[in-house]
Amino acid sequence: MTKYVIRGGKPLHGEVEISGAKNAALAIIPAALLVDGVCRIENIPQISDVTMILQILQELGADVRTVNRTTVDIDCRHIQNSQVPQEMARKIRASYYLIGALLGRFGSAEVPPPGGCHLGDRPIDQHIKGFVAMGADVDVSGGFVRAKAKNGRLTGAQVYLDMVSVGATMNIMLAAALADGLTVIENAAKEPHIVDLANFLNSMGADIMGAGTDVIKVRGVQKLTGGTYSIIPDQIEAGTYMAAVAAAGGEVLIKNVIPKHLECITAKLEEMGVEVEEHDDSVRVRRTGRLSRANIKTLPYPGFPTDMQPQITVVLCLAEGTSVVTEGVWDNRYRYVDEIRRMGAHIQVDGKIAVIEGVDKLTGAAVQACDLRAGAAMVIAGLAAQGTTEVDCVHYIERGYEDIVRKLSGIGADIRVVVMPEEKKSVQAG
Ligand code: UD1
Repeated sequence: MTKYVIRGGKPLHGEVEISGAKNAALAIIPAALLVDGVCRIENIPQISDVTMILQILQELGADVRTVNRTTVDIDCRHIQNSQVPQEMARKIRASYYLIGALLGRFGSAEVPPPGGCHLGDRPIDQHIKGFVAMGADVDVSGGFVRAKAKNGRLTGAQVYLDMVSVGATMNIMLAAALADGLTVIENAAKEPHIVDLANFLNSMGADIMGAGTDVIKVRGVQKLTGGTYSIIPDQIEAGTYMAAVAAAGGEVLIKNVIPKHLECITAKLEEMGVEVEEHDDSVRVRRTGRLSRANIKTLPYPGFPTDMQPQITVVLCLAEGTSVVTEGVWDNRYRYVDEIRRMGAHIQVDGKIAVIEGVDKLTGAAVQACDLRAGAAMVIAGLAAQGTTEVDCVHYIERGYEDIVRKLSGIGADIRVVVMPEEKKSVQAG
């Protein structure tokens, strides 16, 4: 059992380097299943979700070799198996990409329904609708999603998504890359990682146009060949450090980012009185005075990202006046609010709306992360709070943030990892 112990109230200063994008890596690594050759993937973040998806590929029979800390070579040519082990797949949300990738490669897939953070109802009906339109029979029963292309190979089709879904957009792209003919995805999601997946597949020989707009056209090709690709920087990791500086104060240069991807976050922070200076591949964030209130609604890209909602809510807890946050993507993304209240925050939640009365200060407390981004929000609250905060259940945080303790210590945070001995754990559990 590991905790983070944070002595807060210290402004942050210095430089921090952002890692590769989690949600891009989690789609690009399964995409290697479609490639007839070795894929060298660079700028891979060192996080537990990535370790898990690489392990699943290895379990399927892929040859995965570590080149250096952030680069792997993946060779899926000798895989024969399209059945994903239940225990592994259930640990991460992104295991759903294995359905599209295996279906595209073998014309069949058997994958347990995905796990991941509990943010509300997380159906995959739009993914399935796409596969069915492309000629697959899909059955969900007995703890598995079983998909089989009727003619052994998928056929291109027109798919209109009922709602903007990141996962369905990317999964249908994966299934369509080697299908017969043209697939058109309408009402597609436009997140940076969608463009990244398209760029990866195109660099291996795919024919995908329109990624980053709401109509994506995938013309199936006979085969993809190996090559080298570098994953984009993580928009949400960068946004989290920006929010940390906004909450704790100070001045930090956040390096290895694409400022364009951060504009929705930058605009809100500026509205709140935070200074953000954009450079080619970095942003400098400075907060000295008091924060101003703001209203925020989370939306698909280029709207304000739902994966930044808990972190920005903590910043608003310290702003002058009343702010309103509306969650526009998930049904149940305020489970962390009780924990932040224990630190002195004034937040009322009604369904998808949170009303936040700014307070002068938060005070340290023992709190628990209940999911990945909620965990990041607890850390930010701890950095800004007076006194000591202990954040429990940090395995959630480590699913998506590479080396967060080292990176925060590097910009002056007083944060350390405490590993509880086994005996103490059982006493506590009792
Ligand atoms: C991905 C991200 C997650 C992020 C979310 C929205 C990964 C591994 N996770 O999740 O961090 O919060 O995008 O940016 O990349 N929906 C349906 N049916 C479907 C698919 C989605 O009803 O078949 C609904 C969902 O319930 C949700 C909304 O559509 O309300 C958006 O979900 P989606 O964009 O698919 O999120 P994920 O891909 O699961």
